[in-house]
Amino acid sequence: MSLNASTSSAPSRPIVLTGDRPTGPLHLGHYIGSLKSRVDLQHTAQQFILLADTQAMTDNVGRHQRVTENVMEVALDYLAVGIDPEKSTIFIQSQISELYELSMVLLNLVTVSRLERNPTIKEEIRLRGFERDIPAGFLTYPVSQAADITAFKATLVPVGNDQLPMIEQTNELVRRFNNVVGKDILVECKEMLSATSRLPGIDGKAKMSKSLGNSIPLGATAAEIKKAVNNMYTDPNHLRVEDPGQVEGNVVFSFLDAFDPNKDELEELKAHYRRGGLGDSVVKRRLEAQLQAMIEPIRTRREEFAKDKGEVLAMLKRGTERARGVAAQTLSEVNAAMGLNYFG
Ligand code: TRP
Repeated sequence: MSLNASTSSAPSRPIVLTGDRPTGPLHLGHYIGSLKSRVDLQHTAQQFILLADTQAMTDNVGRHQRVTENVMEVALDYLAVGIDPEKSTIFIQSQISELYELSMVLLNLVTVSRLERNPTIKEEIRLRGFERDIPAGFLTYPVSQAADITAFKATLVPVGNDQLPMIEQTNELVRRFNNVVGKDILVECKEMLSATSRLPGIDGKAKMSKSLGNSIPLGATAAEIKKAVNNMYTDPNHLRVEDPGQVEGNVVFSFLDAFDPNKDELEELKAHYRRGGLGDSVVKRRLEAQLQAMIEPIRTRREEFAKDKGEVLAMLKRGTERARGVAAQTLSEVNAAMGLNYFG
């Protein structure tokens, strides 16, 4: 498979910017929530996909190696699901110094109290137990994220609900900057919300997450998939096959809702389960077969790409160079508007 990039792109297409913090390999939750739509977006948009290693560093102090090592893992996941580096520009955030430069300009346009009011940041501070000892880089990562988006003049940002405050904050910064310099240089963006709802973890917790140990990674082996499905949380009161069972909150059915292509059959199955007379194992075998069929080609492609990491790295380098050219152009406009172009 060729990983060579082509640079042609129609200017009228929307510019999409999206990305992931590389803190671990991606899982089925990422697939259903965003990766699938990125594969489709490559045909209709000019898509930039960033490996947000700089951002991941903001809450991984002392664990920077975990971040740098996972850049390759996430890149392999992208390629495995069918993101095509000829159609999308995949790049590494930290290697574009213009993003740091733009962040410094934007940081003067926001107050600490505004950052502290960002609901996503508030929640993340609580989850990480930072209390008052918040790394300044963490508190200000929404500004860095605004730099990611605006450096590419992205008009569309695919996000989950939790990222909406980031979009709002980005657009505030865009308006503020343009107002301060008296020119429309930066561009406001719109969110693109994922159509599918969030996939629960196999333990029934609201969110699938590697750190909670309840995820199914995209590179899962057949045995790992089987084990994950067998361990899935169902209805704890459904003790005997003949008992009526509950579909709501039953992880196996949540997964079938997300992946089962035959919705009519699925509805019949749910009705049968509710009535009683349908064992968990029957439903689990159906889901397992579907997950095996879906993940197998992804895993195989992932293993194929992983054989030549040098080539994947070269692809990332080409993508990063291409992205850097775009960011540098925006930065020169920003600097000129601020008078920060002393030497011409
Ligand atoms: N915050 C995103 C995440 O948690 C990653 C990210 C960084 C991002 N910069 C971005 C997403 C810009 C969209 C746009 O995974």
